[in-house]
Amino acid sequence: MEDKPIDLTPVAGIVSAYVHDYESNLIAILQQTQDEYGYLPKSVMKEITKLTDVPLTRIFGVVTFYSQFTLTPRGKHAIKICNGTACHVRGVDEVKEKVKEHLSVTEGETTADFQFTLETVACIGTCFLAPVMMVDDRYFGKLTTDSVTDIVKEYSN
Ligand code: FES
Repeated sequence: MEDKPIDLTPVAGIVSAYVHDYESNLIAILQQTQDEYGYLPKSVMKEITKLTDVPLTRIFGVVTFYSQFTLTPRGKHAIKICNGTACHVRGVDEVKEKVKEHLSVTEGETTADFQFTLETVACIGTCFLAPVMMVDDRYFGKLTTDSVTDIVKEYSN
């Protein structure tokens, strides 16, 4: 569901770079479109169909297949909490609950101010730092309920 009208003007500019072959460049078109809007609203996907003749079902298939694409607005920062075994054993659940409490969201949700999107992920490969989470591209390890409080505050401004 989309609450307010979305400016579709940038879509024409994005697709115009791929006029020689829209179909083969669909992923690149969708990536640039998502960079522009922060996610892929339905009206924008319809506009891509209108301009390129690539069927909406094909676009939707690609968007739902690749996890890099999202159909819902995302927060400015992505928090990814590791749900792997090592992190689980070292108390990530407690840390996760603290983050959820601070942000008033649960897994997969975005805060009302669009500052954060919270996700849980499988082992992110730094088990020696367990429990671990990432904020955007930055790793934070040996987390405690106190340290996550400081991290969330740091990114809240
Ligand atoms: S289990 Fe969390 S980083 Fe490997």
